[in-house]
Amino acid sequence: MTQFPIDLFKTTDTPFYYYDMGLLERTLKELTHASGRFGYKVHYAMKANANPAILAAIREAGLGIDAVSGPEISRALECGFAPESIVFAGVGKSDAEIALALEAGIACFNVESEPELDVIAEIAARMGVTARVALRVNPNIDAHTHAYITTGLSENKFGIALERLDSIIERCHALASIELEGLHFHIGSQITETEPFVMLSETINSLIDSYASRGILFRSINVGGGLGIDYGDPDRHPVPDFNRYFETFARHLRLRDGQTLHCELGRSVVAQCGSLITRVIYVKEGLAKKFVIVDAGMTDLIRPALYQAHHKIENITAAPDSPIDTYDVVGPICESSDCFGVGERLPETHRGDMLALRSAGAYGEIMSSQYNCRRLPGSLIG
Ligand code: LLP
Repeated sequence: MTQFPIDLFKTTDTPFYYYDMGLLERTLKELTHASGRFGYKVHYAMKANANPAILAAIREAGLGIDAVSGPEISRALECGFAPESIVFAGVGKSDAEIALALEAGIACFNVESEPELDVIAEIAARMGVTARVALRVNPNIDAHTHAYITTGLSENKFGIALERLDSIIERCHALASIELEGLHFHIGSQITETEPFVMLSETINSLIDSYASRGILFRSINVGGGLGIDYGDPDRHPVPDFNRYFETFARHLRLRDGQTLHCELGRSVVAQCGSLITRVIYVKEGLAKKFVIVDAGMTDLIRPALYQAHHKIENITAAPDSPIDTYDVVGPICESSDCFGVGERLPETHRGDMLALRSAGAYGEIMSSQYNCRRLPGSLIG
């Protein structure tokens, strides 16, 4: 079990996110070492966590940013990321967001549709600048992950169908204010197998070859994010296997001279360093079950309610020799889906105990809401 600063926790208002910065730094070191071996560029997908302390560590490690909104671009700039390290994705970029990105001079727009391309071209022309774009292609690959976080299948709100790629590339060449940088892909999130990335590499190879034969060379190939983590046993795998991830592309993707590989990892960078810390308010004896009712709810960590995700639950204040009992661990919100675990085996748990919901650094704090007029969870940097 991870060592938490329990004395500090006891004087902090719960619920809150605790970030183990030592683990984040170790993760960043292994990530930059693994990607650096191949000269690959990593843009951190800041949708996973935009806490300023986390962003500062990521900037120090030299990563760029993958942003999906104007406010994310603004926050990245405020945190000191260079505009030329920022790529901007999203199916519904507004005119104001496009203008902000052009004004800032970001590296590249990941364009998801023909109408978006036309609007970017028009705004760039009006501003007298050139917009660098990568086309987000939908490669029709099943990432074997939860339906809500699978994005690479063919008819999807994300990206451009392969069948339409020729015509949109022609359109890019015809638009004077557009510079076509490359192709962009993202097949889903929490991908724990290598095979979807191998299939993605093969699809990209055939596209590179087919366009090269027509004299079109893409400077950047962006494979998106998606590398999964071990939610079941975070202490066994505190740092994802970045070597295996990058070696998969190095082995299977045939980049041409002058082509750079970019990726947009989110979850794998920040998930394991974060835990949601919560206090037990009541232990309720049901007829056949016992319920541990905690002060964190789906407003603080929505992943279990939204994706049937499970975060490992630990009682971090129980005496080491406590007997084990079985509980459902639930939050205080008036929704049945406000449940963190069913049939959890925990040391005998009492009112006032503190629990840690592990692997919550990604898509945790950033997805919190104020439903029921609750306050947003705070954070403690360790
Ligand atoms: N690039 C694009 C275009 C994306 O849509 C995403 C995530 C990423 C990169 C980063 O993917 P990652 O490396 O984190 O897998 N809220 C969900 C996950 C949604 C992911 C959305 N897109 C969850 O809590 O599981």
